[in-house]
Amino acid sequence: MDKLVIQGGRRLCGEVSISGAKNAAVAIIPAAILADDVCIIENLPYIEDVISLVDTLNQMGVKSEFVDKNTLRIDSRNIQNFCATYEATRNIRASYYLLGALLGRFGQAEVSMPGGCNFGTRPIDQHIKGFEALGAEVTVEHGMVRATGHLTGTQIYLDVVSVGATINIMLAAVLAEGVTVIENAAKEPHIVDTANFLNSMGAKVKGAGTDVIRVVGVPKLHGSSYMIIPDQIEAGTYMVAAAITGGDVVVRNIIPKHMESMTAKLIEMHVDITEEDDAIRVCASRPLQAVNLKTQVYPGFPTDLQPQMTVLLSTAKGTSILTENVWENRFQYIDELKRLGANIQVEGRIAIIEGAERLTGAEVSSTDLRAGAALILGGLVAQGQTVINNVRFIDRGYEDIEYKLSALGADICRIKA
Ligand code: UD1
Repeated sequence: MDKLVIQGGRRLCGEVSISGAKNAAVAIIPAAILADDVCIIENLPYIEDVISLVDTLNQMGVKSEFVDKNTLRIDSRNIQNFCATYEATRNIRASYYLLGALLGRFGQAEVSMPGGCNFGTRPIDQHIKGFEALGAEVTVEHGMVRATGHLTGTQIYLDVVSVGATINIMLAAVLAEGVTVIENAAKEPHIVDTANFLNSMGAKVKGAGTDVIRVVGVPKLHGSSYMIIPDQIEAGTYMVAAAITGGDVVVRNIIPKHMESMTAKLIEMHVDITEEDDAIRVCASRPLQAVNLKTQVYPGFPTDLQPQMTVLLSTAKGTSILTENVWENRFQYIDELKRLGANIQVEGRIAIIEGAERLTGAEVSSTDLRAGAALILGGLVAQGQTVINNVRFIDRGYEDIEYKLSALGADICRIKA
């Protein structure tokens, strides 16, 4: 497996352009197969999760090919099977969107239980509850989820605010007969992006971005050309990279509104932030201050930026208390961070972070995607050399990360396996 080697201590300066949103891409690619037609998706991040999903679609008889590095043409006119195997989907959590899309279009789907990052139990009971409410029969056997049935619109109240369940039910409902109302829906930007894409194909989805989504079923969807929104989490990661190195970086091609919870915390930490229409400048010239932080569903602070903030707070003056409210077990990477000299105590869902004088380089392993990003951030500021193993986790979700960081002045290189 590839390794990343970082010589820490370089101040990052310059501009970085953010790629398309991973979590929108992994929903919009399956959504495209709802049309018996051709879709063109632009601004796709060229990352492992997208490449794996494209392979999976092609195994099902979809013809999907990259027109260029960030543009995908998806021709779903010849889908031959409705099954996504364990082998094809075990590394992508979002493979569950194939269930909603296949069920919506063909009335049948068979998809392996989702894999992805391990943050404790990751149930899909709310997805299944939604499909059943729409009239599907769902069974889970031998690690495969099977759903069949003719779908009819209905009212569905989600017991937990779930991004995945909200999108999956939307996918299943767009071709169902009648009206579906999803209550207590999640509001993340990629839910709005997926709804906008569905509407561009002729669907009738209203209310995405609020906690009540109304879908009026239509008989058929047509092909469409669509550009994915910028990645909120990648943007936040580079904002932390600027702050942790005492740098001055303009993070470009973003939607500043999506970054509000992040910019608020950085300002509280004494980082200077300047917003433009599609960019944020992050300038850290003063000592960083400790803050308290709780992860929440959007528009709260995203759990996917929690590991990056933990490492940033490890370099701030004072004690920070960070509460993880979304996932039951998302602190597994902290032992790796401690190898770099971070001073953190975990008690259940709370991490107590004591700002350290300095971090020092060490050999570490990423345990999941965002934890891997946090280790890179630690390596950027640590004294000496940091070697990061298990880079495949990072490649799942960050396009060209070592090139983007090098262009900002980081000393980082990849050693191929
Ligand atoms: C998505 C993101 C992931 C992010 C998470 C929370 C994608 C591909 N992944 O994951 O990066 O960390 O949102 O912002 O978009 N839950 C249930 N039953 C369900 C579904 C979820 O109890 O059927 C619980 C989960 O255990 C978790 C919470 O709801 O505690 C939120 O999960 P959810 O929003 O569904 O996360 P994902 O969609 O899997």
